[in-house]
Amino acid sequence: MEIKKAIYLESNSDWRKCPKHNKPEFAFIGRSNVGKSSLINRLANHKDLAKTSSKPGKTLCINHFFMNESWYLVDLPGYGFAKISKDGRDKLDKMIKSYVLQREELVNLFVLVDSRLDPQQIDLDFLEFLGVNGVPFSLVFTKADKLSKGKLADNIQAYKTKLEEQWEELPPIFITSSETGQGKEELLDYIDSINQSLAEQ
Ligand code: GTP
Ligand code: MG
Repeated sequence: MEIKKAIYLESNSDWRKCPKHNKPEFAFIGRSNVGKSSLINRLANHKDLAKTSSKPGKTLCINHFFMNESWYLVDLPGYGFAKISKDGRDKLDKMIKSYVLQREELVNLFVLVDSRLDPQQIDLDFLEFLGVNGVPFSLVFTKADKLSKGKLADNIQAYKTKLEEQWEELPPIFITSSETGQGKEELLDYIDSINQSLAEQ
């Protein structure tokens, strides 16, 4: 699938204010600065659709994008953003978690993790939260361009091994780079396959 038309719709700080629609919705979540907004731009072939920054904490709302006039992609704030007050962080945490738990239109959550790092406790905790609550998710490794092929493969394998300690079955896994476009086709085809199976129901 190609995204031929990408439209920024609106930003909200509360899931209850998010647009009402009956189309499939996918969302990107992960630690602040992991590359959520950059990957959305890469998928949409659009440099500035979602706002990005080299500093963490750029995305602070729930942002809806309407793709190909048939499905929605949502850019969420990052979790674990250190440079704000505890109150601010708690508010963001609540915004993210209530969206994830309550938003009925959400069909799949993409959890982004930095391919350069060892499994981070904050990500493992978030995955556990999804598991406990039965939220369907996939795992997306970002910034693959920043590693050699060998190191990348080692890190992904280490991540899988860590997950296998906790999970009986691994989620779908994508390896991506917003810099080179790696993984873009696989990710879009996966979204397309979910959309098609929903349309057949
Ligand atoms: P918040 O909105 O703050 O939660 O961050 P985010 O997850 O949306 O990250 P964002 O897309 O703003 O990217 C953070 C930084 O990482 C920016 O400087 C991007 O240019 C850089 N970046 C994102 N993806 C990639 C990638 O695949 N490769 C490289 N080399 N840099 C990337
Ligand atoms: Mg962002």
